[in-house]
Amino acid sequence: MLPIIASVLVLLIFGCIIRSVTKPKKFPPGPKWYPIFGCSTLVQKYTKLYGSQWKALSQMAKEYSTQVLGIKLGLEPIVVVFGENNIRRVFMEREFEGRPNSFFIRLRCLGKRMGITFADGELWREHRHFTVKHLKNVGFGKTAMEAEIKKELQSIINYINTHKSKPINPKTILAMSVMNILWKFTAGERIQEDRLNFLLGLLSARSKAFSMAGGCLNQWPWIRFLLPELSGFTLIKQMNQQISDIIEETIARHKTKTINADDFMYSFLEEMNEDNKKSFTEEQLKIICLDILIAGSQTTSNVLEFAILTVLRNKVIQQKIYNEISNTLGDDTPSWTDSSRLVYTMAFLLEVQRYFTIVPLAGPRRVLEDVYLDDYLIPKDTTVLIAVGDTHFDPSVWEEPKKFIPERFIDERGAIKNTEHMYPFGIGRRRCPGDSLAKSFIFIVFVGIMQAFRIECSNGVLPSEEPIIGLISSARPFTAEFVPRQ
Ligand code: HEM
Repeated sequence: MLPIIASVLVLLIFGCIIRSVTKPKKFPPGPKWYPIFGCSTLVQKYTKLYGSQWKALSQMAKEYSTQVLGIKLGLEPIVVVFGENNIRRVFMEREFEGRPNSFFIRLRCLGKRMGITFADGELWREHRHFTVKHLKNVGFGKTAMEAEIKKELQSIINYINTHKSKPINPKTILAMSVMNILWKFTAGERIQEDRLNFLLGLLSARSKAFSMAGGCLNQWPWIRFLLPELSGFTLIKQMNQQISDIIEETIARHKTKTINADDFMYSFLEEMNEDNKKSFTEEQLKIICLDILIAGSQTTSNVLEFAILTVLRNKVIQQKIYNEISNTLGDDTPSWTDSSRLVYTMAFLLEVQRYFTIVPLAGPRRVLEDVYLDDYLIPKDTTVLIAVGDTHFDPSVWEEPKKFIPERFIDERGAIKNTEHMYPFGIGRRRCPGDSLAKSFIFIVFVGIMQAFRIECSNGVLPSEEPIIGLISSARPFTAEFVPRQ
């Protein structure tokens, strides 16, 4: 009897191994798959060699001469899509509208796949629609938002003025300002400075822990039972709890009507009292708040940080921007409507968003049914990543893409051009719902800072422009001197 059981077991294991290394029919080309690891080892090796996972995958696609790359990380088949036509299809078509349902994503969403960013189907449709509508109702994307941005600009200028004799790291002030605006519309109040610092620290430590743990926890979730500390699982759980506590406390104060404001949380809590609104739960509200904080804060402040870094490194560009602002606006506080008059400044900010693409690998998406792309078959439920970064450097779209040239966005009549080839916020039904805040914030704060200060190197050291590319791109920590104009 025993030999029969042993033989069946061996056959079963053998069958599983064969299945795990066999690619589905017409699957996109890519490296060989090995049992348990898929091609993770090679992806890790390339990531070290080329500096980021995005660049590693881009290099692999070149080696296989393909615009649709098929890989397997651990047990998860993944397709990475390159080329403007392909990325437009993935952004726009319904078959690609899902989000993966993995352990890692549930961990990101405090345990359940809820909220907006990682939900799909009816839950996503209903809550994305509700969130966008009610954020607008409380002033998001309207004059009220611009007024808040201008208040933040003033606090940034005050902060710089009180610290002007010391070199300043722009990261902290910019991230705090974005976070304050997001929280104002979501929860009706500015966050106290010490609390804000704590929350920012938590979000940043959490995203670092996710990047580090991403490798093993994402590919082999069971590793959390064997190595809870080493895999980063315990740390992420603890940080999830701390963030959860902060949001829960604000929800509790809304329930007792302690916060005097018209905000998104109140709209959501009201909806919870309606009949037939079963998906409107406190847990869902908590995860939507987390989505807004995670998706909005570092992305927006990172663009501004790259803009400051670039003018710091390039005096000619800085002077050109200052001349345009000073000739057009004088001392007037900038508004988003001025963006059509400050053409060079706008072109510069677009070039920053191309050259330092903040989300170089957008998605992840999950295909909702079998779908063909470039004659390759992507089976239902496969995870798809969208290589936006490559499209922003595609030599068939951009002349000399590796050079920083704001003028590529200005046509011969002096108007902005080429924006249709830019995908910093994605396009289609899952496009970024925070783009209006991000664009206005970046423009108003950047113009306001340039109007008030000349930005110089601190201690004569020119900081590197080489970004750190993790889940999003960020500048290496640097300080600058902000010298008041006149
Ligand atoms: C420069 C700043 C920003 C950049 C570069 C950016 C980029 C993106 C991109 C590329 C996506 C689409 C992902 C996909 O197609 O799968 C996205 C989605 C999202 N963004 Fe942003 N974002 C920024 C700012 C913000 C802000 C300020 C908010 C705050 C409201 C926000 C909230 C979201 C949410 C909730 C989603 C998920 C949408 C969905 O899945 O339906 N983002 N963002």
